Amino acid sequence: MADYLSILEKYKDLPGGLIEAYHALQREYNYIPEDAISQAAEVFDIPKAKAYGVATFYSYFKVGKRGRYVIRICESAPCHVAGAAEVVNALEKELGIKMGETTPDGKFTLEFTECVGQCQATPVITINCKPYAGVTPDKVTGILAEYK
Ligand code: FES
Repeated sequence: MADYLSILEKYKDLPGGLIEAYHALQREYNYIPEDAISQAAEVFDIPKAKAYGVATFYSYFKVGKRGRYVIRICESAPCHVAGAAEVVNALEKELGIKMGETTPDGKFTLEFTECVGQCQATPVITINCKPYAGVTPDKVTGILAEYK
């Protein structure tokens, strides 16, 4: 059982503590586990619906299971024009999942993102926070090998 409680309690008495705690959970797990939201309601002494509402209000927070490595593909215009769709196909094929899905072993999630400010060499993907610029379909296998 993951130790959400020790994270939650660190922020319990701070102003804006719930949001800070959710940030900390997301840093740790890449998403906010549903069980952690129930525990947050108890720790912060608020109704469960409110704890859930805060987590889902901010689009930055992702509730529910995600992979250990979240691969984001920039879908803004410059990356799109440079061939992001082919990179998407290569990633989906390599991982055996579609965009928005997580591999059954819980390792990889595929998501779209907006421009990540690396437009000098498009298309761009990020894996957790690390950007990869100038990605082509034939580079995908090599990039993923670093994480397998
Ligand atoms: S448009 Fe893709 S990184 Fe800027």
